[in-house]
Formats: sequence, structure tokens, C-alpha cells
Amino acid sequence: MSAMGMMAQSAGECWLRAMFPLLACAALPWADAVEAAANGSISYVREVAPILQRHCNGCHHPGKQKGDVDLTSVRAMARAGRHGIPVVAGKPAESVMLLEVKGSEPAMPKEGGRLSEAQVAVLERWIREGALDDTPPPPGPPTEPPGYEAPPVLGAMDWSPDGRWLAVAGRGEVLVMDAVRMIRLHRLLGAPRKIEALRFSPDGKSLAVAGGEPGVRGIYQRWLVDGWARETHAEVGHDVLMALDWHPDGKRVATGSPDRMVRVLSATDGTVRVAGQVHADWVLGVAWVDDGRRLVSGGRDRSLRLLDGGTLRLLDVVNREGEPVVRLARRPVSEQVAFAGAESRARLYQAFVRPSASDPGQDPNHVREFDAWPGGATALAFSPDGQWIATAGAPSGVSVQRVEGGGRVARMEGHGGVVFGLAFDAKGERLATAGIEGRLRVYSLPSGVLLTNWVPVEVGR
Ligand code: HEC
Repeated sequence: MSAMGMMAQSAGECWLRAMFPLLACAALPWADAVEAAANGSISYVREVAPILQRHCNGCHHPGKQKGDVDLTSVRAMARAGRHGIPVVAGKPAESVMLLEVKGSEPAMPKEGGRLSEAQVAVLERWIREGALDDTPPPPGPPTEPPGYEAPPVLGAMDWSPDGRWLAVAGRGEVLVMDAVRMIRLHRLLGAPRKIEALRFSPDGKSLAVAGGEPGVRGIYQRWLVDGWARETHAEVGHDVLMALDWHPDGKRVATGSPDRMVRVLSATDGTVRVAGQVHADWVLGVAWVDDGRRLVSGGRDRSLRLLDGGTLRLLDVVNREGEPVVRLARRPVSEQVAFAGAESRARLYQAFVRPSASDPGQDPNHVREFDAWPGGATALAFSPDGQWIATAGAPSGVSVQRVEGGGRVARMEGHGGVVFGLAFDAKGERLATAGIEGRLRVYSLPSGVLLTNWVPVEVGR
């Protein structure tokens, strides 16, 4: 019997159901487990998970499943590994996980000291009691907007393709501006607490939001522009999604995250279609190229990689590794990508690979570099026609340059701190900026004249 089946069977009087009549049935096994733990049984969350986190999960997590074993959740432990099922609820003698840690010369942990007798006893008793899962379900969407004691750091933002909406990431919410009147019209509550990327779909009908909780879960959401309802909420992996790009067909999105993975998700329901650990460090940028047939990814390992869009197979390394890639964008109407480098500036590359790219010392796909920043580049965006690029950098400032030739269009100073978000409007006549100072600024282009400058939330309540 599966762990879930076991848990359902052990359902007694459920006090939680009495307290919360609307509690979904799916949450009831959890409620039973909480109740059981309160009655003196072993708690997975308080007693079992800490042992596994400390001694086992380093080699047995979703991104690194040694022996095909993932020990980071009760559900995963009930799935068969290479040589049997790690945890068979109610049956310690059949649970491979227990057999591996017992005896005079335990096979696990593979490295580090063995588990103490008391720890083994906890695992054994927990399995015998039914391997109950008292992990709390993730919190549901809040109904109250978050309160802000100071202007929040604003980051990711995007302007809708029709120019009507400007979406800006707040803390656990997305602020949607009417971009004509420049007033806040909607607050999308229940967005990830940490939002790293916001992108309108190519048809402008959906807004994709990517983020999550560090080391806990990645979150992908899709909101419908018509009515601003949340249509999709999916948990993806165990770390924050740092980058997102829509496939031109509008049916898929690519994501990047600190677990070094690039994933392609179904845009509709967020399920992972293909995933690959293609970098040696955090993946902070993804961009579809070649009409969606290929994907460029970039990360802290300083490399831009060209991947097959269907399989994520590595086709080639695009750049000579220079500086960590913190943001990446495709130049519209071209086969070029630009990245913001953590140490100096944004650089433009061809996204197809010239033969000598892998020769040391050569950088044949490099096209151009843009204004340097003393503390490194922090954000970049292309105008929709691909003619201009805006870059921001530390300690502060924003620059707009012509992509061809690199000539300066405008330079904006006076931001109170680093800028993390940049977005051009649909015609390339306005540029929105946001960052540490918590203010949303909109500049006219090419003049660089400041049109509006305000904190888009109420502060101090
Ligand atoms: C340093 C890495 C490492 C650590 C730490 C580690 N394991 Fe493993 N584990 C492995 C490898 C590698 C395998 C694959 C089989 C092998 O090579 O022995 C494996 C296999 C397993 C299997 C499957 C058994 C099989 O025969 O395939 C189980 C169950 C398991 N480990 C449980 C644990 C438990 C429980 C802990 C913590 C007490 C733990 N592991 C800690 C590396 C590790």
C-alpha cells in the first residue's frame, strides 16, 4: 500500500475538519498526521525530516537522485528507487531506507558518520506508525494586500505588447499599472513572495510570474489579463525560479534556477516538459532563439550556452567565459542575445555559433559591448523594435544606447540605489525603471526626461 493510502486509512476523528469545514479532502491526510503527531506519534516534520536533511538529502534530492532515490518528501520516498522502495509505510522490514542505515556497517550515509541508534529508532518507529506526513500545505492566496513599512525593493517588470499595462513585482504581489494614465489599477495577491521574472505572453493575454522561496520551492504562475485572475499556480523544483522566457508559440515557457537547471514548462499548467542541468552554477537567464527551436541560457558560471529547444541538449558554448551572467534577453527581430555581466557591462552576442567559438582566447560570437558600470550591470531590456538597449548598473544609473554602433541615446541618473527592473513601452517611446529606492520612474525617449516618479504602494500603516 502506498504511503498516501496508509495515511488515508488511518483517518480517525479529524478535528481539523471540524475547525475548517472547507478544508480540501487532499489536505486531510495531513490533518490526520498532525493529529497523530500531537498524540505522541513520530512527527515527520519535526523529527524525521531534520535527520534526513542533515545526513542524506545532500545526495538524495530531486536534482541529484543517487540510486534514483529522492528523500526530500514523504511522497518521493514512497517511489521505487533502483533497488526497491525507500519507505514502505507500516513495514520497516521492507523499507530500503531503513535497511541501508541499520546494522554494524550501514551502507548509508555514503559519506560522513553513521546515524545514531536513537536516530535509526526514530526512522523505524515513524515507518511502523505509517510514515505519516505532517508537512503543512503551502499557504493559500492571501486576501489582504501586504503592508509596507518602507518603499519595497521593486524588481522584475514588463510592459504589455499592446502598451496598456505595466506590471511590476512587489513583495508577494504584482502591481498592475494602467500605463496610459499611470495609476495603479490592480494588485495581484498571492504571487510568490520573491518574484524574479514577469513576462506578458506573446499574444498579450497572459502574464507569467516566476519566483518562489529560496531552497524550498520554485513557483510559476499565469494570470489572465482579462479580469486579472490567477489561472495557473505550479510548484517547480526546490528553489526560486530566477528567469523566464515565453516560447514564441505561447504554449511553453523556459525557466532558470539556482539548482543549475533549465526547465521548459507547459505554459498552461506549469508541468515540466523537459529539464536539464546544463550549467555548473545558478542559471540566471534564458532566451528562446531561432524561432523557438533553440534556447540560450546563461549563469553564474560565466557561460552562455546554446541548447536544443526540444531536448535541452547542449549544442555549444556561445561565449568566451568572461563575467557572471545576471540577466539575459533576446534582441527582438534578430538572432542575437545580450547579457548583463555582474562585473562590468552588458554584451551582445550572436546566438548561432561560429566554428571557432570553443577555441581558448577566441570570442567570435561577440558583437558589441555597452556602457560599463563600476559595480557591474544589473538589468537590461531591448526596445520592441530591437534598435535600442537599456542597461542599468551599480552603484546607480540607467543608460539607453543604439544597438548598432553603441551610440548613446539617453542617460538617466538620480536613482536612489541600484535599478533591477527596466521595460520599454510598445512603441519604444517610454522607459520604466525600478529598483532599491522603491519608486517607479517613467522616462520619455529619446529625451530622457522624467515623466513620473512615485512609490506605487501605500507605505507605513
Ligand atoms: C555522499 C552521498 C550520499 C549520502 C550522504 C547518502 N547517500 Fe544514499 N546513496 C548514495 C549513492 C551514490 C547511492 C547509489 C548506490 C551506491 O552507490 O551505493 C545511494 C543509494 C541509496 C539508497 C538506495 C539503495 C540502493 O541499493 O540503491 C538508499 C535507500 C539510500 N541511499 C539512503 C540514504 C540515506 C537514508 C542516507 C542518509 C542517512 C543516505 N542515503 C545518504 C549516496 C549517498
